[in-house]
Amino acid sequence: MARATIAVFPGDGIGPEVTAEAVAVLEAAAPRHGLDVTFTSGVIGGAAIDACGAPLPAAELERARGADAVLLGAVGGPKWDNPAAAVRPEQALLGLRQALGLYANLRPVRAWPELVAASPLRPEILTGVDLIVVRELTGGIYFGKPSERRTTAAGREAVDTLVYSEEEIARLLHAGFALARQRRRRLASVDKANILASSRLWREIAHEVAREYPDVKHEDVLVDAMAMHLIRRPRDFDVIATENLFGDILTDEAAMLAGSMGMLPSASLAGPPVPGARCRGLYEPIHGSAPDIAGQDRANPLATILSAAMLCRYSLGRPGAADAIERAVGEVVAAGHRTADLAADGSSIGCRAMGQLVRERVGA
Ligand code: IPM
Ligand code: MG
Repeated sequence: MARATIAVFPGDGIGPEVTAEAVAVLEAAAPRHGLDVTFTSGVIGGAAIDACGAPLPAAELERARGADAVLLGAVGGPKWDNPAAAVRPEQALLGLRQALGLYANLRPVRAWPELVAASPLRPEILTGVDLIVVRELTGGIYFGKPSERRTTAAGREAVDTLVYSEEEIARLLHAGFALARQRRRRLASVDKANILASSRLWREIAHEVAREYPDVKHEDVLVDAMAMHLIRRPRDFDVIATENLFGDILTDEAAMLAGSMGMLPSASLAGPPVPGARCRGLYEPIHGSAPDIAGQDRANPLATILSAAMLCRYSLGRPGAADAIERAVGEVVAAGHRTADLAADGSSIGCRAMGQLVRERVGA
């Protein structure tokens, strides 16, 4: 393959520990799978606020723009937590998503058979769960203007704006339907069309786009109902396509199906997901920076390692490497190795040891 550059942003908390393991796995996979990658590392999030007062310094944004893909750990922590602060670590994430045009956020959720005991849900509900949420990531209420607080004669008020253009909705749904074609050919489009005008447009466009994919079974589901179905019958879903805020909420809920947030990767793409193509993307675990266990070699690196697999699939044009990394993770978990978040009985291994086990299998 042509040489690819990966910008690594370890971020805060456990971010540096988990990204180090994912980078090492990519390096181990490189010779066997013909990956020709160079890594360049930058500072964003709370660490960047401390260093220079800005969560996403201009030079780091340029680093991301100049790379084929971004691998990110996590940002944030109690030190920068004041919601009233003008600069917050999370702004680095929103800034990268918007500046790089990463509109399609893929969040796969699988109930790993060996880990069903780690979930608070009953095993019979979890068996066979394999779904992927495609969340719109650069529009909606996260970015709409005005978004502000103001004072009127009646006192304080605040406003956020939920706005979607037809183009923003259509391209996300195309990404969802394309993905459904690579899977079990089912797509649930989630909205709140009984209340919101933006959702009524969403639903209208979902029907228009669906006509171009007659081989995919499409249904509309209201977001409140989906919150319930995800717990009662998660097995019934394949691709779930939805807008930014609904996707944010539903993916934390769906994460519980996998037993631990520590197992959930994500990809944020600037184009539709095509395995083997080279789309610009940002890859990160769904979990946060877990400051309580930072620096203790206790984090689970598997979500970041699985994110690196998605990076191979969608940004490096190397689906074979992605499959190999995912298979290695499956083998390590099946062999009974557990980090603390997954260990029911207290016997667990550290972040580095877990990364090492995956690396050995990927490189072998
Ligand atoms: C996520 C996170 C982010 C979001 C935060 C950290 C800005 O919750 O990626 O789901 O709300 O999108
Ligand atoms: Mg979230």
